[in-house]
Amino acid sequence: MRRIYADYAATTPVRKEAIRAMSPYFDKHFGNPSSLHADGRIAADAIKNSRKIIADIINASPEEIIFTSGGTESDNLAIRGIASSNQKNGNHIITSAVEHHAVLNTVKDLEKEGFDVTIIPVNKYGEVDPKEIERAITKKTILISVMHANNEIGTIQPIGEIGKTAKKHSVPFHVDAVQTFCHLPIDVKRMNIDLLSVSSHKIGGPKGVGALYVRKGLEIKPLFTGGPHEFNKRAGTENVAGIVGFAKAAEIANKEMEREKRRLEKLRDRIIDSILSSVPGSRLNGHPKNRLANNVNFGFVGVEGEALLLMLDSMGISASTGSACSSHNLSPSHVLLALDPDPVKAHGSLRITLGYKTTEKEVDYIIKAIQISVKKIREITPKIEGVTTY
Ligand SMILES: Cc1ncc(COP(=O)(O)O)c(C=O)c1O
Repeated sequence: MRRIYADYAATTPVRKEAIRAMSPYFDKHFGNPSSLHADGRIAADAIKNSRKIIADIINASPEEIIFTSGGTESDNLAIRGIASSNQKNGNHIITSAVEHHAVLNTVKDLEKEGFDVTIIPVNKYGEVDPKEIERAITKKTILISVMHANNEIGTIQPIGEIGKTAKKHSVPFHVDAVQTFCHLPIDVKRMNIDLLSVSSHKIGGPKGVGALYVRKGLEIKPLFTGGPHEFNKRAGTENVAGIVGFAKAAEIANKEMEREKRRLEKLRDRIIDSILSSVPGSRLNGHPKNRLANNVNFGFVGVEGEALLLMLDSMGISASTGSACSSHNLSPSHVLLALDPDPVKAHGSLRITLGYKTTEKEVDYIIKAIQISVKKIREITPKIEGVTTY
């Protein structure tokens, strides 16, 4: 059976061009970028070119890009880096209830170390209100961290407005843009962003590489001690091939961004409209319009997300119930709970995320498979008196 991959928010297939670009850096150009000889210089030049590509996409300077091992490390470096270097100015951090665990668990850890953390709630669509962020700012606030778009429900946050507020109060602003880099335009200057996390494997690049943008002049303490790599902000020999593959994937994804966004929006809306109109007891999680072009997240009354996921899997479809990192964890999604405290609703979600290889034919198959699976699961689920079933 041919499989249909519909879990692009978890990870993406590596683009052929990225594999081709990386290949020489494993054997022919294997030099250490810190070495002064010709082999080292070739590797250093490859990193330099890649840094410029990533910087240009977000309107930053190359010296403001720190290569890391991915989104999780970038989030940790941003938050812990600011927390450690800024303690003289205060101990208060503001974030939102729907952040990825790379942010939420990091701030919760800092809370145990004595930091004061304010978690801003969201509305029923998962949106953060910039006014609530402003109200939470105190003289001790040293960081605001809000994601650009949510990985589970796709809701896009008003980053420009939050950036203005952060700037007005001179509070550093971190944005987790792992799901939006090369999917939505990002201009760190115009949006008043001080720190921005991105990851390679969400845009057709290899896993285990990412970057953190750090605005010039902003002090952050590195996570590890070691050599002076990455402008003294991230010690350790760089993942040269990974960085080259990341930059190649970013170059292509950025070039195709607008066209791909329009194409995916059509496919996304086709799934949403077909399912909501044909499957009784179905609802869309997240914002109906202000959401990522590739994200669909449904809830179905009386249907467990895991049961649906397994049935779709048996029909050749790879989807998800929420974020990839919590898919082995059967506790309800913290994102869905933030939208609606009903744990039953938070358990019954299905996330379909599309990408550069998704076709119209695949989308039509996905729609049919969801319709059949939801009906089948409801037929085999015992009816409980007083509980709505379909
Ligand atoms: C919003 C968000 N932040 C951070 C991460 C972590 O990125 P990585 O897998 O590169 O560590 C992810 C990955 O799913 C994500 O979706």
